[in-house]
Amino acid sequence: HRKCQLPGLWQNELGSLMEIHERSKDQELVGRYLTGVTATTNCIQQVLLQGSWHGPARRVLPTFGFIVTWEKFSNSTTAFVGQCFMDESGQETLRTTWLLWEEVESPKDDWKAIRVGTNVFTRRPNPGP
Ligand code: BTN
Repeated sequence: HRKCQLPGLWQNELGSLMEIHERSKDQELVGRYLTGVTATTNCIQQVLLQGSWHGPARRVLPTFGFIVTWEKFSNSTTAFVGQCFMDESGQETLRTTWLLWEEVESPKDDWKAIRVGTNVFTRRPNPGP
């Protein structure tokens, strides 16, 4: 049957949007991430994401990981790791666990640098040209 694919437009339960692009190196993941929420008081901006996955032809339900450095409005970095699933109707979802590390003043403060959670992404229809 059909394999779960990563490229496309996705939205999670926080209202975050991400767009993942097809690459010539088919394990590479690149795209753009627009978070729906922030721990900062800054104005949210779209940033780049980079990662890798068990490319198009390799796995039916591929695992993947990608990193987002929120460089335009926050000093933190988030790593997402997860798997693509497909239901009986062919509807795809991405289940992920993320880890966010926020910049702190010293190594003594590392305990308060970390947030962890899960996000589920569902496919959005790609906007036309
Ligand atoms: C920040 O506030 O420091 C940067 C934005 C962080 C957004 C987080 S990353 C994990 C979770 N999933 C999302 O889609 N947004 C939040």
